[in-house]
Amino acid sequence: MLHLDNGFDLRPAGAEDAARIAVWMAQPHIQRWWQQDWSVERWTEEIARQAAGEHSVPCVAALDAEDFGYVELYRVRHDRLAEYYDASEHDWGVHVAIGDVTRVGRGLGRQLLRALADALLRADPACQRVVAEPDMENTPSVRAFVAAGFVQQGELQLPEKTAQLMVRTRTAEV
Ligand SMILES: CC(C)(COP(=O)(O)OP(=O)(O)OC[C@H]1O[C@@H](n2cnc3c(N)ncnc32)[C@H](O)[C@@H]1OP(=O)(O)O)[C@@H](O)C(=O)NCCC(=O)NCCS
Repeated sequence: MLHLDNGFDLRPAGAEDAARIAVWMAQPHIQRWWQQDWSVERWTEEIARQAAGEHSVPCVAALDAEDFGYVELYRVRHDRLAEYYDASEHDWGVHVAIGDVTRVGRGLGRQLLRALADALLRADPACQRVVAEPDMENTPSVRAFVAAGFVQQGELQLPEKTAQLMVRTRTAEV
């Protein structure tokens, strides 16, 4: 368990989280952008696959001990994203989804994104950038990233979407 700023906690997802993640992913506000509305079995496999590899770390985010979202932290050098911008070896990327729709659009996402980026930059001194690639039509996501200190660095034509490259660099505080 990693304690982040603003009262957030982050822990690695395990097989016991697959059922809840599957429910979250099936909700329209997430399904539209993630397109990973998979069965519990497939999520169980996916979590194990990621946990066994170097590419990404599947996590559950909590606030005040209440799980509310799914996060993937990924090493850009192991991700297809590295082919689409001038990535550095130590760049980290984030994917986020707030599972509880009643908690969306209330500022929780921007606080979580800021806390995640600060934690990654602190944990990995070699890391200079935390990045994300939301669909450029995903206005709430882009706005939340901007509010969390990420800067829009241009459009990327990925195979399945046109993404906005969002980059958070170190600040005076972190
Ligand atoms: C993306 C996500 C994590 C952002 O978290 P959040 O708590 O909803 O975000 P915030 O409340 O901090 O900010 C949302 C912003 O979008 C704006 N917004 C919300 N709905 C909007 C809409 N339909 N059109 C335009 N702007 C919208 C809000 O006004 C706010 O921006 P502002 O304060 O600058 O006006 C969350 O919405 C989510 O999990 N979405 C589903 C999954 C997803 O899209 N993940 C991102 C993939 S990269």
